[in-house]
Amino acid sequence: METKKTEILRALRVAEDYISGQELCQKLGVSRTAVWKYIKQLQEDGYEIEAVRNRGYCLKEVPDILDASEIQSRINTLWAGKEVVVLEEVDSTNTEAKRLAEKCVGSGTLVVADRQTGGKGRRGRVWDSPKGSSIYMTLLLKPQIPPERASMLTLVMGLSVTQALQQLYNLETTIKWPNDVVSHKKKVSGILTEMSAQVDYIEYLVIGVGINGNMDSFPENLEETAISLKQILGYSINRAELISKIMEIFEKNYEIFQQTRDLSQLVEEYQRVSENYQKQVRVLEPGNEYSGICRGISSMGELLVEREDGTITKVYAGEVSVRGLYSYTD
Ligand code: BTN
Repeated sequence: METKKTEILRALRVAEDYISGQELCQKLGVSRTAVWKYIKQLQEDGYEIEAVRNRGYCLKEVPDILDASEIQSRINTLWAGKEVVVLEEVDSTNTEAKRLAEKCVGSGTLVVADRQTGGKGRRGRVWDSPKGSSIYMTLLLKPQIPPERASMLTLVMGLSVTQALQQLYNLETTIKWPNDVVSHKKKVSGILTEMSAQVDYIEYLVIGVGINGNMDSFPENLEETAISLKQILGYSINRAELISKIMEIFEKNYEIFQQTRDLSQLVEEYQRVSENYQKQVRVLEPGNEYSGICRGISSMGELLVEREDGTITKVYAGEVSVRGLYSYTD
């Protein structure tokens, strides 16, 4: 059930121009006075809404607010992010999504936070999660695929993030396999997928996405390897807009994935944006290091590395680190 605030924001957005008070009353099923009160509340929250006699209301400027109404009123998906839980602060959106999954919350629920106190990165690392500038979100899924295929959905999410950045800001980013989104040889976004599974089926999967949004700078230990969208674009982004675009694109890509339950129909697009494709990579497996040329990914999401003797080795995500020839190393 959408709240009246979500409904009014959605109506103002869909209108793109002025929408009359009368029409808003009808859409929301409330009185003119009630509509005026909602509008006033939105203005107090920072929305610039112009009210003109005989024309109605027009949404002019939207602040970078992260709340459920702001996100929900933008989301036009069937299931991805249709239910949104927005928190000012949480230990980790992945952990919160797992707690919700244990309480039987449905597939497609999105958890978003403005700050994480225990943000998690891959391989036990910490994901620095300051307040007010970045995106920390986790999508809960209950896919009917064998557990060994779960990591493919991480790649689908990485691809969806790059496509959203392209569509919204005309920004060409690349993916460092398996799913770091990179620009100017630095990391813009990282993805951490966790799952609860039996041997033969997935109970639930949580795909956590961290995106460096509007930071002006990074702590010293990160500035060599991390970059924000604001630093790249030169302006602040609206986080809710980017979140909803990613949900929209992920839902489409997921449907494509579902047709074959592998990446065969997404491989070409993934390789097009791949940072590693046709380049020298160094694979660091526990107890086994080697170099080769990256020849793309398989339909199962493995990295295909051509060794010196011409044989192709398939590299699984998991504990492997792949180093490219640029400044930051995974
Ligand atoms: C990585 O590149 O190491 C993965 C980083 C994943 C960070 C995101 S932020 C939202 C979600 N919650 C977490 O605790 N981690 C992921």
